[in-house]
Amino acid sequence: MKTKILGILKENRNEYVSGQDIGERLGVTRNAIWKAVSSLKEMGYSIESVTNKGYRLTYCPDILCSEEISGELKTRWWGNEILYFDSIDSTNNEIKRQAEKGAREGLLAIAEQQTAGRGRRGKEWSSPPGSGIWMSFLLRPDITPYRASQITIVTALAAANAIRNVTGLNTLIKWPNDIVIDGKKVTGILTEMSTEIDSVSYVVVGIGINVNTESFPPEIGHIATSLVNHLPENTRVQRSGLVAAFGSEFERLYDKFLACDDLSPLKAEYEARLVNIGREIIIMPGEQRAKALGINNDGELLVEDEQGVKAIRSGEVSVRGVYGYV
Ligand code: BTN
Repeated sequence: MKTKILGILKENRNEYVSGQDIGERLGVTRNAIWKAVSSLKEMGYSIESVTNKGYRLTYCPDILCSEEISGELKTRWWGNEILYFDSIDSTNNEIKRQAEKGAREGLLAIAEQQTAGRGRRGKEWSSPPGSGIWMSFLLRPDITPYRASQITIVTALAAANAIRNVTGLNTLIKWPNDIVIDGKKVTGILTEMSTEIDSVSYVVVGIGINVNTESFPPEIGHIATSLVNHLPENTRVQRSGLVAAFGSEFERLYDKFLACDDLSPLKAEYEARLVNIGREIIIMPGEQRAKALGINNDGELLVEDEQGVKAIRSGEVSVRGVYGYV
């Protein structure tokens, strides 16, 4: 109900909508509308109410509650159900718990703060309140585990595109799935799956986008950044809008991915964003040097050294630039 009223007020942002119009559209009483509007105001929305004119939305707070996100979403199935938490251990953990209980594909969990946010390779992911987007969603694709690992490439492209569309910032991808701006990491992706011998029960995709973070712990300060650090002073990023933009972009790319046997429909678009292309990189473990050429249709990184061209897989190795992170 609150979501629907918020949706109507947003459609008519800065204009009055009468209680009667809202009531007729939603089939609810004026009293019920008044109660929902009061509750939205308590959440931080500024809504004027004027006798004989109705309600007018003048300000939306930057909050990530399910009402706010569903009001922005234009997806078919991504985010069909949204679980919002003020604080949680990890949204990836939550989606796993829900998946084990039989939750539907598309379920989205989003938290203002994570107390045990996880990164790749067992690292912690700093997720303080108010500073970013910490979210995970559930997929149940009918594909092999090998293909499912490519979803991380799809997600990286969707995140890079969404951030660029919403903020205008020049987002690039460090293979396989870090989003970078000006050589520093702004977004990380953690894809986890539960598999049978040759099928996938479910995939959990977790994304952390640093939006408002102004300073990072010393051990990551030299490689981490956030969106506001690259935007003009006092620019706000409406996090719910960015979540919705990601959802639309993910659906578009994921459809293409499922319609084909490999990543070929996304290869050119991914490579156009790949920061490593043409650069000298170091492959770890082993510290071997090579030049990155692009990706193949399976999402492996093609690299060239004295022995020739070979493909490297993200589960087995990671890469960094010769002089630092990229
Ligand atoms: C990385 O190491 O680059 C991956 C970071 C992934 C962080 C996100 S935040 C939402 C989701 N929940 C987690 O615990 N991790 C992912």
